[in-house]
Amino acid sequence: MFAVPRALRHLPHVPVLPTLWSYARWEVEDIRITKLLLPFAKRGEPAVLVYMLGQWIVHVLDHNVIKAITADLDAFPKEVPPDGSLFWHLVGRENVIMNNGAPWKRLSKMVRSALERNVPIDQFVLLARQLFQQMGQGGVLRWDDLTSRYTLDAIGASVLGYDFDAIRSANNPFVSNYKLVFDDLADPAYVAFPILERILPRVDTRRRMGEFVESLQNILNLKRQEPGNDMLTYMLEDKETTDVQLRDNVVTLFIAGHDTTAGALSVRAPKFSPALAADPTGEPTLDALRAMPFLQACIRESLRVNAPILELIPRKAIRDTVVHSGDGTAVAIPAGTSVFVNVHAVHLREDYWAQAAEFNPDRFMEHDTTQWMSFGLGPRQCPARNFAMHEMRTLCAMLLAEWEWTLPDDSPHRDHIKNAFSVVALSLPKDLYIDFKRRAAHGELK
Ligand code: HEM
Repeated sequence: MFAVPRALRHLPHVPVLPTLWSYARWEVEDIRITKLLLPFAKRGEPAVLVYMLGQWIVHVLDHNVIKAITADLDAFPKEVPPDGSLFWHLVGRENVIMNNGAPWKRLSKMVRSALERNVPIDQFVLLARQLFQQMGQGGVLRWDDLTSRYTLDAIGASVLGYDFDAIRSANNPFVSNYKLVFDDLADPAYVAFPILERILPRVDTRRRMGEFVESLQNILNLKRQEPGNDMLTYMLEDKETTDVQLRDNVVTLFIAGHDTTAGALSVRAPKFSPALAADPTGEPTLDALRAMPFLQACIRESLRVNAPILELIPRKAIRDTVVHSGDGTAVAIPAGTSVFVNVHAVHLREDYWAQAAEFNPDRFMEHDTTQWMSFGLGPRQCPARNFAMHEMRTLCAMLLAEWEWTLPDDSPHRDHIKNAFSVVALSLPKDLYIDFKRRAAHGELK
């Protein structure tokens, strides 16, 4: 069962027992990558095999190889997920993230043009204001919960044109159901052995998933009757899109746009110099945000050290291919192999990033950072990277102007952010409590 197939024996592999032991202990993906895969990247290996999802998968660790793989959509299309996978059952098969070829091109064009219609900074500002109101005078607050509610309302307002009111109402039934679905899906036993889905089907999880998709379908139906200034309305203008495609893409955009950005809003970093906080005084405009390059660098650095998507969606090699690493090593990938781009390992390679484990935004001010791939690479990189960067820059600029914060002494996140276990290698901090104090005006603390 665990023997490496003959066609892949030219590649090094992570021993099976430590991998299974890591799953058995519920270790999260970023820790597993750092412990088990990073040593191979440090030795200069361009790729390594890992036993996961019940098979041997090639994890690519070299930037050049990744560039070649993500650019060649014909040789390395996105892998069609296994039939039994509940996660893929949830997002459906007609969505822009999973599709290939002509259907992907059409859906991608539709999503991109809807995203390009506007960058809703004013909406982000409004939501940040609501969030600050909710935070009252501060104190020890659960930041991962607050960011999740902020990004949910941001997706609601600008993508779906629907007010989830998640910031103001902590016990929103839609949000609690969605969280339960994701907690269920992230059961490590089912992630390591997807066959369990057939042996011990999770009936309750399926029911909850059905309810979650139905709530999004209701939003879609509502939008047909009451169009607005949001992505979904623009997508509905495209008359070629079928009902199933619309449904699958609404679910996908909801998932792709919510937890990713929420996870990105947490990083363990040293105290910043006041120069960062001095800039933003009021509510930022697009021009004001553009005039804050150091803030942009901090966000990019946080997306490097704690990439919200640790591994890209699997690709499948459809023919025998040879790709070359940065030092010219030939890497042969046989047809039929599943290929994972390991973003986290690339982001921690010492030969790409000096003192890679340290948070140092200056590297994004001064140096060539072509190995940065938090939004993916090639034609399938994130179409919403501009949207997400503005969402984060708005909130961070306003936070810096109005709040000061520290980690409580007994926080489990003191050394690095501790993420929760995720079904799709997302970095989402778990129970991140932060002590906030409101500034009176321009830098003084109340
Ligand atoms: C910090 C926030 C975000 C990060 C780090 C992020 C990261 C990524 C990455 C790495 C990919 C490429 C996946 C691959 O090649 O396998 C991707 C694709 C995608 N993202 Fe994002 N994303 C973010 C926010 C968003 C938001 C806010 C939306 C929607 C409003 C979104 C929608 C999408 C879509 C539709 C794709 C699929 C593109 C395609 O396959 O053509 N993302 N994202």
